Amino acid sequence: MFVINIGQLVTPQGSKGVSGEEMKNLTILEDAYIQIVNGQILSMGMMSELPKAMRDRTLDAKRGVVIPGLIDPHTHAAFYGSREEEFLARCLGEPYGKGILTSMNLVRAATDEQIYQYSRRFLLDMISRGTTTVEIKSGYGLNTEGELKLLKVIKRLKANLPIEVVPTFLGAHAIPEGVKKEDYVGEIVEKMIPQVVSHRLAEFCDIFCERGFFSISDSREVLKAASSVGLKLKLHAEEFQNSQSAELSAELKATSADHLLFISSNGMYAMLEAGVIPVLLPGTAFTLNLNYAPAREMIDMGLPVALGTDFNPGTCLVHSMLLILSLAVMKMKMSVEEALTAATLNAAAALDRAGITGSLEEGKRGDLVVLDLKNYRQIPYFFGHGVVHAVVASGKIIYERESGLAAN
Ligand code: NIG
Ligand code: FE
Repeated sequence: MFVINIGQLVTPQGSKGVSGEEMKNLTILEDAYIQIVNGQILSMGMMSELPKAMRDRTLDAKRGVVIPGLIDPHTHAAFYGSREEEFLARCLGEPYGKGILTSMNLVRAATDEQIYQYSRRFLLDMISRGTTTVEIKSGYGLNTEGELKLLKVIKRLKANLPIEVVPTFLGAHAIPEGVKKEDYVGEIVEKMIPQVVSHRLAEFCDIFCERGFFSISDSREVLKAASSVGLKLKLHAEEFQNSQSAELSAELKATSADHLLFISSNGMYAMLEAGVIPVLLPGTAFTLNLNYAPAREMIDMGLPVALGTDFNPGTCLVHSMLLILSLAVMKMKMSVEEALTAATLNAAAALDRAGITGSLEEGKRGDLVVLDLKNYRQIPYFFGHGVVHAVVASGKIIYERESGLAAN
């Protein structure tokens, strides 16, 4: 297919996460086209150079902006039921508490089909906002049966959605009531991880390393067990207070450490040294009214900052990467260019996929978003506006504003 009449094509470049000054370096083509063949970008250039033989399917960008498909490297999108009362109570000052267990009860009581339909609705919505690769964590089953049930729902979403779904096992999300922590960690290590791996249900293993949830030594035990059988690692780190979980992510050479609201400079240096990608989730800080992660400091010291939504029923209902990108600009002193790199190429790197997606370059997957804007610097300015004109994944139009989702 061809995408023609692109007013401005904007992309970072490379096959790994980029850091520091390089995060600002976007390639910009004006009045351009892109050709996608067999799901991959075959060529890009000026409209004046458009191959004459072009009688293929075309998508007219109508002089809009084209950016790489957005990559959401951190979601808890597989769940069932809402938690608006907890949310409203928190808005009035209640602290964040045991909400994960509310979702656990709802997930355990729901059928696979109910969870699938419930989650799918949100994922289709994410697609219409430009997401073309999404990570989804388990973490609301919280026993072997419940976690496998959620991971199988994620597998079905992966098989049926037109975007790439990356599954993460997050059995260590909370400890169910009435269960001893030691016993639960034992069940994760001895039962859940082996079954997750033997059924190939996850690529990453994550843990909520936080006071009141899992300690540094629990996290080391779970993550070492996971990595010894081939799972790549992620951590929910320094979300509510500093526990030196960023340092642990470096020690274990995790792919990413996420949240990092309370990270220390020692933690940042450890991550830099070890090559761990910081995934920042400003939608959560926004929803919980917390201070934002120190993005500016991280970028200035050379960390390849990535962005994600953290979409989940408790701490962040934001599921649009464009809103996240805007929050990064408005609240974390990131430039538009840095935020765009963080939401595409660096987010792909946080999923170990920077070689195949995250930028518009020959040989990369044909994933892109057409925005109804004059230039990319308008993205954060039009915060919350419906600016997505079309979404293409693997060279197929999966959403067009006029005709809606083709994703069914
Ligand atoms: O990333 N911190 C742990 N997990 C989620 C919240 C999950 C929930 O409340 O349901 C988070 O903030
Ligand atoms: Fe999270």
